[in-house]
Amino acid sequence: MSYIPNSIEARDVASLVHMQTNLRKHQEIGPVVITRGEGCRVYDDSGREYIESVAGLWCASLGFSSERLAKVAYDQIRKLGYYHLYRHRSTEPAIELAEQLLKIAPVPMARVVFQCSGSEANDTAIKLAWYYWNAVGQPQRTKIIARHMAYHGNTCAAVSLSGKPDMHEGFGLPFANFKHTEFPHYYRRHEPGETELEFSTRMAEALEKLIETEGPDTIAAFFAEPVMGAGGAILPPQGYFEKVQGVLRKYDILFVADEVICGFARTGEMWGCETFDIQPDMLTSAKALSAAMQPISAVLINDKIHEAMLSQSDRFGNFAHGSTYAGHPVATAVALEVQKIYAEMDVVARAKRLGPLLQSTLGRLRAHPLVGDVRGVGLILGMELMRDGEKRIPFDNTLKVGARVEAAAARHGLILRVVGDRLVFAPPLVVEAHDIEEIGRRLHRALDDAARDLESEGALQ
Ligand SMILES: Cc1ncc(COP(=O)(O)O)c(C=O)c1O
Repeated sequence: MSYIPNSIEARDVASLVHMQTNLRKHQEIGPVVITRGEGCRVYDDSGREYIESVAGLWCASLGFSSERLAKVAYDQIRKLGYYHLYRHRSTEPAIELAEQLLKIAPVPMARVVFQCSGSEANDTAIKLAWYYWNAVGQPQRTKIIARHMAYHGNTCAAVSLSGKPDMHEGFGLPFANFKHTEFPHYYRRHEPGETELEFSTRMAEALEKLIETEGPDTIAAFFAEPVMGAGGAILPPQGYFEKVQGVLRKYDILFVADEVICGFARTGEMWGCETFDIQPDMLTSAKALSAAMQPISAVLINDKIHEAMLSQSDRFGNFAHGSTYAGHPVATAVALEVQKIYAEMDVVARAKRLGPLLQSTLGRLRAHPLVGDVRGVGLILGMELMRDGEKRIPFDNTLKVGARVEAAAARHGLILRVVGDRLVFAPPLVVEAHDIEEIGRRLHRALDDAARDLESEGALQ
């Protein structure tokens, strides 16, 4: 494809590498350039409007622009645009944000370690798990367990932790001491007649078997998202976390809750840990922490981890970890203001009020011939596209049904996320009831378009 010389598309293709993108295809089709946003809508450079039903990358919780947050960033840059947290230095917004996070933590936590992204937060939590076991005299506990299809980020360790083969291929990853247990996707993976509780028991038994095979005294930590996001908005089946935590306690394995997507009301409570009764030793958070207006993440650590860090710091004379922008004053000031906005709008009450509307509005599409299952909690939802929903017969992969629906949705002004043949929704937390109804209408049209195409190709018989 040839582009108009010096057009924004030509400049993009000639200069940028895009993440999670087919690079060759990108050279042919070029970018969709998003130029502005308002509430849960974004607009491209031709003026086309889209409802963003995944809040960008599950993160733009307050929508896509904000005068109030812009003013906070501006004021902070004028006052103190940079300082760090190394060698006993500190800043007011970092202190205040840490205090706020400890106040709202789902379980008692002792301290906050700031980083700049969800990946870095998980990377740090991995390091801290190793640091902890070194401190308490069990340095052989080096293995980390996560789930197949989990997503925890893309730095070398965080992507090793992730269970997505497409993100390992060609990179020589995962690292050897990262192990993966069963993907707890009840709808797709349960045996005929198996209840959710029975399925959860099977998942917990598989975890225990992995621990026994690897050697319990070699395992440092288990990482899990309360709701698996990039795996397809997969809810834990009934009883899952209770059973899994029972196994982890039995073998004295640390639990790290990855709240990067679930934190800040996404699941209808402030934390996914509250929705699913998880008691983590560490909690990682990012995305809605700053409403995605600034790159910042946080690791919350409990007293036991903190005590171990203190003793290691005594031993080595230093906690030898850090990065230049961690706890950046502009990012922490903006995140702090975001927390104030959440309190003013009572974000949890809002998610509790609008969550059921999202679930029922999109739930009605369960009757659509392409839809096999719809499940969600709060303002997150996954929709399984199946050739036969009742018998759980999937579409042939080569039909790329999910991608067809995604393309049709974009034509109807709806941005959604596909994970294979599963559609995922996590709209900004400022979504209004009429936006949810409009998401339902646009999605319905997109499903109809895809069904019509498949029918004309004879793929629905
Ligand atoms: C659950 C989860 N953890 C970690 C990450 C990585 O966060 P980041 O992209 O900020 O590095 C993501 C990103 O989508 C995520 O969904």
